[in-house]
Amino acid sequence: MQKNQGIRRGLTSYGDDEFSLFLRKAFIKAMGYSDEMLERPFIGVTNTFSDYNPCHGNVPQLIESVKRGVLQAGGMPFVFPTISIHESFAHPTSMYLRNLMALDTEEMMRAQPVDAVVLIGGCDKTIPAQLMAAGAQDIPSIVIPTGPMLTGTHKGERLGACTDCRRFWGQYRAGEIDEAEINEINGKLAPTTGTCMVMGTASTIACMTEAAGMSLIGSAAIPAVLADRFRIAEASGRQAVQLAASRLSPRQIMTPEAITNALRILHAIGGSTNALIHFTAVAARLGIRIDLDAFDRLGRGTPVLVDLKPSGQHYMEHLYEDGGLMTVLRELKHLLHLDCMTVSGRTLGEEIEASKRSAAPKVVRRIDQPVFPVGGIAVLHGNLAPGGAIIKHSSATPGLLKHRGRAVVFQSVADMAARIDSPDLDVKADDVLVLLNTGPKGAPGMPEAGYLPIPKKLARQGVKDMVRISDARMSGTAFGTIILHVVPESALGGPLAAVRDGDMIVLDVENRVLSLEVGDAEIQQRLAAWQPPATIRDMPGHGYRKLYQQCVTQADQGCDFDFMIPPLMSHSAPVL
Ligand code: FES
Repeated sequence: MQKNQGIRRGLTSYGDDEFSLFLRKAFIKAMGYSDEMLERPFIGVTNTFSDYNPCHGNVPQLIESVKRGVLQAGGMPFVFPTISIHESFAHPTSMYLRNLMALDTEEMMRAQPVDAVVLIGGCDKTIPAQLMAAGAQDIPSIVIPTGPMLTGTHKGERLGACTDCRRFWGQYRAGEIDEAEINEINGKLAPTTGTCMVMGTASTIACMTEAAGMSLIGSAAIPAVLADRFRIAEASGRQAVQLAASRLSPRQIMTPEAITNALRILHAIGGSTNALIHFTAVAARLGIRIDLDAFDRLGRGTPVLVDLKPSGQHYMEHLYEDGGLMTVLRELKHLLHLDCMTVSGRTLGEEIEASKRSAAPKVVRRIDQPVFPVGGIAVLHGNLAPGGAIIKHSSATPGLLKHRGRAVVFQSVADMAARIDSPDLDVKADDVLVLLNTGPKGAPGMPEAGYLPIPKKLARQGVKDMVRISDARMSGTAFGTIILHVVPESALGGPLAAVRDGDMIVLDVENRVLSLEVGDAEIQQRLAAWQPPATIRDMPGHGYRKLYQQCVTQADQGCDFDFMIPPLMSHSAPVL
């Protein structure tokens, strides 16, 4: 083995390399390893198991599968822990912790001797954090997602987390189902370990990771509990040893063209809006800037082909039965950059050529029979969002995509929670609900609060959707006519902060317009008198919270820390 490989890689600094190696060997032999095993390539395997993270409940078995593959191929697996983040167990939000997980993963990849790394992730923020780390360190890496849950059933109907969580909760709020039934449903929404089985953020990221070439073909859609999931983990372990030998690195794989393929897949699967923020952060670590207007143009030429909730009807297990993401890739072949290299050592085009065609896909449509004629996400501009905002129009109400309505403004999540169900709230079905101070710095942590609930008194009248605007995010499992990621955020004095109750707001998705019908001079006057919220005024003086609030960037920059973003972006994507 060469110097600076395997056990010799990144020696601890004692001023005497030979002594450092002697000491390292002495300690690791306490594990019972032989000299022969310690001469093999070192393959790091991230352990993101946590009792707080049911989406990662299969990680121990995945680790065993990966280790089996590594040993088969002549490598030596080293499992190491990193932070694990689950959506509903992270306060204030999982987004607040994503950058911490990226730093943790990146630094442990750098600090410990690894020739290649198998990144086991799944729940929404985990794979983005791992890709950010892999991109920054450029150590050969392969991702194995934990995989989606299987679905449950209720009264003969298939259901799953978490699109149906929201649908049934909406029915409960509207008084359509009682407490006993909502409690029964609660026990059926997540019937197995694994990630949310709709096209939420976790499934979207897994698909984009596969399209970007960072996981083996087939990795995204196999359910978490099926034998195939563990077989592909074993294959990923074997492939990691090959990557250690070939030195094929994330920067050679995640080129601007590969990022473009991933972004096109985001459109084509009707994927989560969160994925745009995450891939902006991943790309930035590689020196690639995401051009939002080019992303919008990419969407105009990419139909939604996958009939999965929340844009469609089905679940990830159905995509798996249809042949997984490969069936989508094959359908879009003429639009993809086929020369992009993947972790398998073959190009995306070669992988498509080598794949077997699924007999009769049920949830993946043909390109001439799409679920939605254009891509899932549109980018909006106007005097309310000079830096842009987005809407997932594939899961919005068509009749609301061109809308003019009166603003009903909430100053914060707490203000919304206190007033949204008040019988005295002055709100009508054609109003526009506006939520302020929920961006990266203002909340902080950019919560998934953009899916404002329909005010109870309107829900009880049968109102299912309204135009809603915020600088927050929305769960990838949610649906509705919801405008998100407004830049700059209101807590920093963005124009959204100037909106007052009763102002008229215009949404025109076809023309990509989001505007406030208030004159520029009046907006400037209001902003001159504006005071920042307490979260900005009372900036904490220490700890991670201080680091986060001082350094987190806006949504259009991926909400990464400013000091992690290269000063110069050498490329931009998508490449059209
Ligand atoms: Fe983990 Fe949905 S909560 S993927």
